[in-house]
Formats: sequence, structure tokens, C-alpha cells
Amino acid sequence: MSNVTRFGVSLDDELLQKFDDLIEKIGYSSRSEALRDLIRNRLVEEEWKEESTVTIGILGLTFDHAARELTEKLTKIQHQNIHAIVSSTHIHLDHHNCLEVIILKGESGLIKRIADELISTKSVKHGKLLMMTTGSRLF
Ligand code: NI
Repeated sequence: MSNVTRFGVSLDDELLQKFDDLIEKIGYSSRSEALRDLIRNRLVEEEWKEESTVTIGILGLTFDHAARELTEKLTKIQHQNIHAIVSSTHIHLDHHNCLEVIILKGESGLIKRIADELISTKSVKHGKLLMMTTGSRLF
């Protein structure tokens, strides 16, 4: 583990109260741990801005499996990008609706393009890309 530095932070009382209320609600054991996660989240956001950074994306898609040719289209896009698809899971939610969870690894620009193509496919009800990280740049 790298060295740890302690530093003071000046905050407006109201802002600090809101922060303390939030971290208590979430369940953090200390301000430091909550602050570390905020910083890590911001660093991961920065990773995603650099399109050539190799990173991890988790894509969720909700759709009606009976929608015309939709399942075939989604499968085709995934096969065309097989080098970036690590895993996919299909869950039958009810009689009509399905959830597909796709884990992607590759350059962030590529992951975003694949996710956009899948999300924008006609008849996909809802799609969301969770922008994760390989963790190799975080400590
Ligand atoms: Ni299904």
C-alpha cells in the first residue's frame, strides 16, 4: 500500500452537515472512506474521457423478447464485437420482458460505441451503461 497523507479540508457547515447525513445514510464508517470513494469515482470518470483507456463497462438492456427481430439484432451486434464482450447473461423477467447484462472490456471509446448501438436498437425498452474500471489506475 502507498503512503497515507492526512490533510485538512475547510467546508461550509451546511455542506459538511449534508455530507455527514449522506455518509451516515449510506453507512460509511468515516468521512475519510466516503471521501476516498468520491475521489475514486471522479478518477474513473476521467478514465472514461480518454477514449483509448482500457476499461470495463456493464451494460443492462431491458426488452420484450417478442419484439420483431430484436433478439437477433442484439445477438448480431455482440458477435460483431466479440473481442470486447467478456460475458453476457440473459434473464427472463416475466412472460414478455427480458434483461440482458453484458460485461465489456476494451477501450472506453469502443465500449461506448457498442453500448450506444445496443441501447439505440429499435424496441429496446431501457438501456444503461455502468462505467466501471479495471482498477489498475486506482489504489
Ligand atoms: Ni428472455
